[in-house]
Amino acid sequence: MKNNILTMAFILLATNLVNSQKAELPDALQKKWWKEAVVYQIYPRSFKDSNGDGVGDLKGIISKLDYVKSLGVDAVWLNPIYASPNDDNGYDISNYREIMKDFGTMEDFDVMLKEMHKRGIKLIMDLVVNHSSDENKWFQESRKSRDNKYRDYYHWWPAEKGKPPYRWSFFDVNSNAWKFDAQTNSYYLHYFSEKQPDLNWENPKLRQEVYAIMKFWLDKGIDGFRMDAFQFISKDNTFPDLPKEIVNTPAAIIKYYLNGPHLHDYIQEMNKEVLSKYPNAMTVAEGAGDSPEAAMKFVDPDRKELNIAYHFESVDVGKHLKDFGLVKYKSIFSKYDDKFEDKGWLSIFLANHDQPRMVSKFGNDTPQFRELSSKMLSTFVLTMRGTPFYYNGDELGMDNIRFDSIEDYQDVDTRNKYIGIKNKGGDLNAFLAIQKQSSRENSRTPFQWNTEKNAGFTTAKPWLKVNPNYKTINAEAQEKDPNSVLNYFRKLVKLRKQEPALVYGKYTLLDKENPNVFAYTRELNGKKILVLLNFSEKNAPYNIKIPIAKSKIILGNYKIKKINILQPYEAQIIELK
Ligand code: GLC
Repeated sequence: MKNNILTMAFILLATNLVNSQKAELPDALQKKWWKEAVVYQIYPRSFKDSNGDGVGDLKGIISKLDYVKSLGVDAVWLNPIYASPNDDNGYDISNYREIMKDFGTMEDFDVMLKEMHKRGIKLIMDLVVNHSSDENKWFQESRKSRDNKYRDYYHWWPAEKGKPPYRWSFFDVNSNAWKFDAQTNSYYLHYFSEKQPDLNWENPKLRQEVYAIMKFWLDKGIDGFRMDAFQFISKDNTFPDLPKEIVNTPAAIIKYYLNGPHLHDYIQEMNKEVLSKYPNAMTVAEGAGDSPEAAMKFVDPDRKELNIAYHFESVDVGKHLKDFGLVKYKSIFSKYDDKFEDKGWLSIFLANHDQPRMVSKFGNDTPQFRELSSKMLSTFVLTMRGTPFYYNGDELGMDNIRFDSIEDYQDVDTRNKYIGIKNKGGDLNAFLAIQKQSSRENSRTPFQWNTEKNAGFTTAKPWLKVNPNYKTINAEAQEKDPNSVLNYFRKLVKLRKQEPALVYGKYTLLDKENPNVFAYTRELNGKKILVLLNFSEKNAPYNIKIPIAKSKIILGNYKIKKINILQPYEAQIIELK
């Protein structure tokens, strides 16, 4: 009896001790799989074609899962694979519970998910519910009559009220988000292309539809969502007039289009109704407002919304590192990290399907420096605090294709802007020159597997031209080379997985004003790692007051090191003793 009481007392004491330790751990240090994960983004249209139609597909992805596994990544984020007429490559969904015909069938999806899970790879799906396709049944019904039961699933403006107050659109030829629809003598709203009508989140029925879709996929076993254009979902449905002089500026877009009146109410409702029932699901909203404070609102654990903030400041900063400079670039990451030091969680990314290639924007894609700077940038993504979202092909150092002619572009963004400029008699050559650097198509060219026809992506004519440099830049060649960009990436992923300091460790920026070197430490439980990155094509000195004589370089992209100086695009990861 006495023994039992003693045992019970001991258990109680031990549990309290564990709980109080847990309670003391700040949110940022609490372990979660999605903090430790390396996410690999696959653009399905361009990854691997299995059936010879020139378009990548699910069976193609399945055939390459061993490759994905070999990278060491933990999760795959797939761009939309739902039924879609493809006005915006799947970001215009006509049926949320079906697979796009180009990509395969639901059976293929089930096999793909099973095969991923078998390999320990989680699947994050794109959730595109700011808008649907105009070919979605909801919209087809909605446009039929003003009293159709789906009418309020979208935003309509009756024409008898006059022209609706101007709203800007990303992809519309005339940048006008209102499109007249004669059938009901009304305008509908589309922040993206006219084939992407915006859904009306102010309608509770629509929100319930979205929650049901989310449950449908989570119940199938997927591991989370990347939420497309999520900052736009809530709108002021009275559509007040906007001050004329600012309607087209980025400031206005942020002020009037992002963070609508009920955005966070809806995310909290979604959390309550769906996400709280799937506590292991990863959730990341695309875009996170215009400041670290706004980003925190999405992921502050006390607010019960989402997991990971994916802000745009570090990619929207400019077209090329040369234009904005490293000092500014560093300050953005530090500013966000500062706010997120104790709670919330960030993502780290340099590229995705809406951006040019990482090496062409932040590195140097000339033959002399392409490999070195790709490795240096990968070092950055894999050693920063935040979950790395790494875009397919960057592990090979794939670079911008830089199309010469508008005919080569398939992207609704580039094509419609081109028409808009042409209609206004604008400078088309200047526009095309900018697209060579910044167009989204640069990152969407087919994955370069080998030296076979079309880089081994397809046996047919590919939907988008393959970068001709595939003869030298391809996965097969890099497999064989222990010093390739690919094998360096694998080492980085392995290191991050082995070293908790690289995941949870405190980030401290050093040598802040250095215009060429990004230097920082990551520190956890007495372990301190120094990361030195030269973002320039010259030898770069640095000024760091930490004695590094006894330290050990764990990984770097040069064989021979120089003292106190980093060679062009050099990266070093150093364990400090
Ligand atoms: C997001 C997607 C982009 C798409 C847009 C409209 O920004 O990442 O590719 O065009 O939303 O859905």
